[in-house]
Amino acid sequence: MMTTQLSVKEILDWYIAAGVDATCGEEPFGLSSSEGKINIDIKNSEKTNEKNIYQTSQSVVRPATTALAQVTNSACQNAKDLCASITSLEELREAVENFEGCALKLTAAHTVFGGGNPQSKIMFVGEAPGADEDRIGIPFVGRSGHLLDKMLASIGLDRENCYICNILPWRPPGNRTPLDSEVAVCLPFLKKQIDIISPDYIITLGGSAANALLDINESISHLRGKWMEYQKSDGKTAKVLASFHPAYLLRSPGQKAKSWADFLRLYKEINL
Ligand code: URA
Repeated sequence: MMTTQLSVKEILDWYIAAGVDATCGEEPFGLSSSEGKINIDIKNSEKTNEKNIYQTSQSVVRPATTALAQVTNSACQNAKDLCASITSLEELREAVENFEGCALKLTAAHTVFGGGNPQSKIMFVGEAPGADEDRIGIPFVGRSGHLLDKMLASIGLDRENCYICNILPWRPPGNRTPLDSEVAVCLPFLKKQIDIISPDYIITLGGSAANALLDINESISHLRGKWMEYQKSDGKTAKVLASFHPAYLLRSPGQKAKSWADFLRLYKEINL
């Protein structure tokens, strides 16, 4: 058998290419290393039916509620409790910065709170900070942000007359899609931000933001371009328009025409 010795640099390059750009500790950890482990023994597994589904040779006892679900529930509750007594954006920013219930904070360089004009009636909600936002601590300052600025300018908006924030205030390592548990834990902070700013219009950028805010599970191509509603805690509603995420538009410029149509919809609505 041929073996190849890789240098440390080659190994690190390999990890970066695979999307791993942060370390969380000295020891590796995962599903197979601790309590409640799931050992999938492919060699000794039995083929259960013609659909090629393999069953583990040892039966796995799954608790009714996993430890992760319990931690997530209590972190969600903690975030909701914190938000209950908050009345200003400054208090909320401090609470988010001091919150320890989301593991993303461990790998992030900055907490990226919302930015722009908190008096505005127009709010844009993205997914999560990327590498540039994490480095600088301000939402949408990287390539996606530059495109967003151009899109805003095309309908007479800028960061002085709208407010911009994200579902998550911390960057997921390697820009991976946020986990449902991370979204659930951070959502009370976003909802409080909406209650304090009380926008009349919310434009969600990308599927994650629309689905999280509206508590649905639809594809962005199905959601975009339609006005929907979000109920604020005072019972009043904000009109919600879902559109594509600028990062998606950078990858798929052919979709820009649809985003332009969405932004024109917003323009018509705010210039009535
Ligand atoms: N993508 C987002 O969703 N938000 C940012 O702040 C930057 C990139």
